Amino acid sequence: ATQAPAAEAILQAEAQGSEVSKEATILFGSQTGNGQGIAEELSKKLEDRDFTVTLSAMDQFKTNALKKVENLFIIVSTHGEGDPPDNAISFHEFLNGRKAPKLENVHYSVLALGDTSYEHFCQTGREFDKRLEELGGDRLYDRVECDVDFDEDAAEWVDGVVETLIKEVEQSKAQVSQAAPQPVGVGAPAPAESKPAHSRTNPFQAELLENINLSGRGSNKETRHLELSLEDSGLAFAPGDSVGLYPENEPELVEKLMDEMSWDPDELVVVNKKGDTKTVREALTGTYEITVLTKPLLEKAAPLSDNEKLHELVKEGNEDELREYIYGRDLIDLGRDFMPWNVPVSEFLPILRKIPPRLYSIASSSAANPEEVHLTIGTVRYDAHGRSRTGVCSGQCAERAEIGEKLPVFIQKNPNFKLPEDTDTPIIMIGPGTGAAPFRAFLEEREEQEAKGKSWFFFGEQHFSTDFLYQVEWQRWLKEGVLSKMDMAFSRDTEEKVYVQHRMLEKSRDFYAWLMEGAIVYVCGDEEYMASDVHEAMKTILQQEGSMSEEDADAYLEDLQQQKRYQRDVY
Ligand code: 2AM
Repeated sequence: ATQAPAAEAILQAEAQGSEVSKEATILFGSQTGNGQGIAEELSKKLEDRDFTVTLSAMDQFKTNALKKVENLFIIVSTHGEGDPPDNAISFHEFLNGRKAPKLENVHYSVLALGDTSYEHFCQTGREFDKRLEELGGDRLYDRVECDVDFDEDAAEWVDGVVETLIKEVEQSKAQVSQAAPQPVGVGAPAPAESKPAHSRTNPFQAELLENINLSGRGSNKETRHLELSLEDSGLAFAPGDSVGLYPENEPELVEKLMDEMSWDPDELVVVNKKGDTKTVREALTGTYEITVLTKPLLEKAAPLSDNEKLHELVKEGNEDELREYIYGRDLIDLGRDFMPWNVPVSEFLPILRKIPPRLYSIASSSAANPEEVHLTIGTVRYDAHGRSRTGVCSGQCAERAEIGEKLPVFIQKNPNFKLPEDTDTPIIMIGPGTGAAPFRAFLEEREEQEAKGKSWFFFGEQHFSTDFLYQVEWQRWLKEGVLSKMDMAFSRDTEEKVYVQHRMLEKSRDFYAWLMEGAIVYVCGDEEYMASDVHEAMKTILQQEGSMSEEDADAYLEDLQQQKRYQRDVY
């Protein structure tokens, strides 16, 4: 039903003597770069079929160009409490506002990225889809919603969109050509692919060159420094980009799970839509997520269990109990708590999510360390429900990754966290904890560039003696003038806690002066608390030193963000 109006519009355009549109506009909004990767894939496939493609981040797209758009594809993720990512905020507001244009001649489709662990799964994508319909748009292809293991679903959406669009154009051409035949380019087969480069779906096996604990004895934390070889990978990156690392589940957990469920470790199971097979042990080690429970997973698991308690838990009205149950529990808990299960392993595994790669901000510059990439990884450890648990990827790095072994990696570009091209531009870097990682890359790069611009680094951790990550490097850069200023907040060395934002406020006059000189502010690290407290501190500085009202300060920061003079890499 959604196809008819599209063909009609094209026919109408033909009847009026205008060209059939082989135009497509692809807009993405994403914090991590996942959306951008998919957008580029779609763009490439459409260009291979002779479409003229406009590809843009939502915040770089001029909204008055919307009037000319005929085929619009939106790829957008959702964050926190159902919020759009930073680079989608302004476009999202614009579309939902009164100034949004009618989109009656627009064919569109939305790919929504999200995480089923969150309550507001894919909300931003749903909102775009609904709003485009309200504005009169014609849904060319149904919205697809992706979980963290989005690769297969996203690829299906991309192919679906391309095929549907081509069919539309061909149909209208066929009808038009009865009157006036014309050569058509869009139906041409895609050119043969050359050997694919390493990417998220084709990771590079990187040799581990170094793996050390940066935290001193007696620290509450373990923070690892990893060095990986990118020799012959063809992978390039710039400071601010991230590495995606595919982890494996802990072998003991896998054994325990198979034991609890009485699964045969050597049975072969199908692990993807292509039909590839692995043994159950291999699949549970490298393919499926076994450490996180989500509401949709429990809903899919319920019919596979004869246990009434599970049927009860997924009933409407029991959402609170369900949320409480899944918190801190894993598949072993689920398996044990809701026996007996009534299906073979081959029917159980497909309800699981695939293990998503973990993204880590790169801690090195390739100018300073060619053919290598360095990472700073905080080990996640906690106790829950009577068992001690470790983060899948950070635990693997801390406990099992040996020098010389190979780890599957790819580069995730981050255009939203980049050093200024002009090396004279002053920069302010705020990066407590592992948030320091990209700033080590920044300073390595600035050292190589012999940059003249001033730089100021705010670092925070618990204790000076055990947690001062990369201490000697910052101190050398300070001495040599690569780094102009550094302020530290060791939160647990003093009676009263001090955090990076307190140091910013203590230096508010200087901070304001740097801003007025055109400094770029970078924030990396914890999103939930740190980044919002730092944001508030910047507001306070503007009000205090710049005599701005609260609204002015808000507007100023929004403007800074728009100009990419306030960039965040937060998690
Ligand atoms: P804490 O662990 O003593 O609370 C890196 O993790 C550093 O960030 C630690 O010193 C940690 O302090 C601190 N930190 C915790 N919450 C923060 C917040 N809301 N803003 C800034 N720093 C914070």
